[in-house]
Amino acid sequence: MRAGGGTQVLDRAAATCILALWLGCLHVAALKSRLFTRLGGASDSPENPISYDTLYFDQKIDHFGFLEDGTFKQRYLVADKHWQQPGGPVLFYTGNEGDITWFCNNTGFMWEIAEELGAMLVFAEHRYYGESLPFGQDSYSDSKHLNYLTSEQALADFAVLIKNLKSSSPGAQQSPVIAVGGSYGGMLAAWFRIKYPNVVVGALAASAPIWQFPGMVPCGDFYRIVTQDFAKSGQNCAANIRKSWMAINNVSSTASGLQWLSEEFSLCAPLKNENDAVGFKSWLQETWVNLAMVDYPYEANFLQPLPRWPIQVVCKYLALDASVSDYQLLHGVSQAAKVYYNYTGSSSCLNTSQTATSSLGYIGWSYQACTEMVMPMCTDGIQDMFEPEGWNFTAFSDECSAMFGVRPRADWAGTVYGGKDIASHSNIIFSNGGLDPWSCGGVTSNITDSLVSIVIPDGAHHLDLRYSNDQDPPSVSAARALEVMYFREWIKQAKKTPLTS
Ligand SMILES: *[C@@H]1O[C@H](CO)[C@@H](O)[C@H](O)[C@H]1NC(C)=O
Ligand SMILES: *[C@@H]1O[C@H](CO)[C@@H](O)[C@H](O)[C@H]1NC(C)=O
Ligand SMILES: *[C@@H]1O[C@H](CO)[C@@H](O)[C@H](O)[C@H]1NC(C)=O
Ligand SMILES: *[C@@H]1O[C@H](CO)[C@@H](O)[C@H](O)[C@H]1NC(C)=O
Ligand SMILES: *[C@@H]1O[C@H](CO)[C@@H](O)[C@H](O)[C@H]1NC(C)=O
Ligand SMILES: *[C@@H]1O[C@H](CO)[C@@H](O)[C@H](O)[C@H]1NC(C)=O
Repeated sequence: MRAGGGTQVLDRAAATCILALWLGCLHVAALKSRLFTRLGGASDSPENPISYDTLYFDQKIDHFGFLEDGTFKQRYLVADKHWQQPGGPVLFYTGNEGDITWFCNNTGFMWEIAEELGAMLVFAEHRYYGESLPFGQDSYSDSKHLNYLTSEQALADFAVLIKNLKSSSPGAQQSPVIAVGGSYGGMLAAWFRIKYPNVVVGALAASAPIWQFPGMVPCGDFYRIVTQDFAKSGQNCAANIRKSWMAINNVSSTASGLQWLSEEFSLCAPLKNENDAVGFKSWLQETWVNLAMVDYPYEANFLQPLPRWPIQVVCKYLALDASVSDYQLLHGVSQAAKVYYNYTGSSSCLNTSQTATSSLGYIGWSYQACTEMVMPMCTDGIQDMFEPEGWNFTAFSDECSAMFGVRPRADWAGTVYGGKDIASHSNIIFSNGGLDPWSCGGVTSNITDSLVSIVIPDGAHHLDLRYSNDQDPPSVSAARALEVMYFREWIKQAKKTPLTS
């Protein structure tokens, strides 16, 4: 990814996608081969059984213009077993870039608090992901169809859906609605409260990097946090990853070295040339980034099935001293990578086109990154353990133009959602984990009494939204308790000022 010219830039942007922010990371080789094909869902079962009704709502394809009058079916999930009607609250998950059932299954926090709040749970799918495709199977076939994939349209979908649910469900007219979301879904939750304070009384924005936009935070912070996670999880761990890139360059300079690498890493498709080696490094880099996002204190299966504190397990293989040969070092790296790709022992080979669950929508997120969601990232090889690469907006824009025929608008997200000037808004909780690289673009200090930041030092990517676990650090249990306390306060405030419409 570093040395390969063109595609490296979008590759980098993709890392940002994990934000997808669960941002599912975008691997360009994979992206290209998958462009304009439909992605299927994968499985990730929740720790506790959950049950919901699956429903569909007719949404306008275009909320903001009047020429396109078509509609599509937006999928949403409803669980009202614990809902106290009339007037019980609604917790509304603002779906992100992927299959809504996957987010639903991975948001145990909502399932665990529904009963104590007497709340109805609703999980709304984001347009263009999962089953909610405005142009059916053709949604990704050209950029004319992709034109309606924006966060503004998605927020409008959520607002229209809630208005409709409230007027059509007996007992829901006075129900206060709270938005909940993680990662990009967390950004949407925060922006939903900012743009539609008439529809939601408050929002929990978990691991939401609302400031990961041009000019708001330094572009190197993301990879610096990834590096810190490895540096503190084992002796020489980050240092050896930093060294591994040159070792790969050395070994991959000969045909026999390429063959050795392919066998050592049990790759499904052998590396054939230096270009393949570049793609291979980019895949490894994404692997380390994903591990930083899912460095959870217990065994979990979010992006991949993994042991508890997976980075510590990975680092056991990287505690090599400075005298080892390139081959010995890369043997350690391959064992480390297999912790991520083969924890269950069931993978027959490693596929460098895949890094995470296919429940995330790669093409859709790349399009969003190429239009509104411009998230600068850079590395210097000093503060971080990666090969140096600057942020180059022009190169990024050129790639977007080649891929989708559109160019990104670097300043738009700041203009439409307020950037750092959001103090006039209210009732939003921003929670962030200290281990999560996305915390660099998040709100990590209190802005006002009602724009509150909760920091979970031992937390990875939206740990607070997951099911509680015996091995949870006390900081995440405290965070969840505080979040519920704010929910109760917002619900109480809403009861004092009944809605008139
Ligand atoms: C979510 O959980 C439900 C019920 O357990 C299951 O049917 C579904 O396949 C899961 N979805 C994903 C994407 O894992
Ligand atoms: C790569 O090759 C160079 C030149 O032979 C050597 O100095 C270096 O130690 C090798 N390995 C790494 C990790 O740089
Ligand atoms: C995954 O682990 C199993 C069990 O240890 C092993 O047999 C298999 O070869 C491993 N796969 C890869 C790709 O290394
Ligand atoms: C590797 O992953 C890509 C993208 O998901 C897929 O198309 C390809 O078939 C996979 N290759 C193997 C050998 O599994
Ligand atoms: C940024 O990319 C453009 C287009 O690829 C290139 O012409 C320019 O030299 C690059 N700028 C820097 C500072 O590398
Ligand atoms: C923000 O304020 C709340 C309530 O006083 C407090 O619990 C929390 O720790 C503060 N957050 C930060 C990051 O200082």
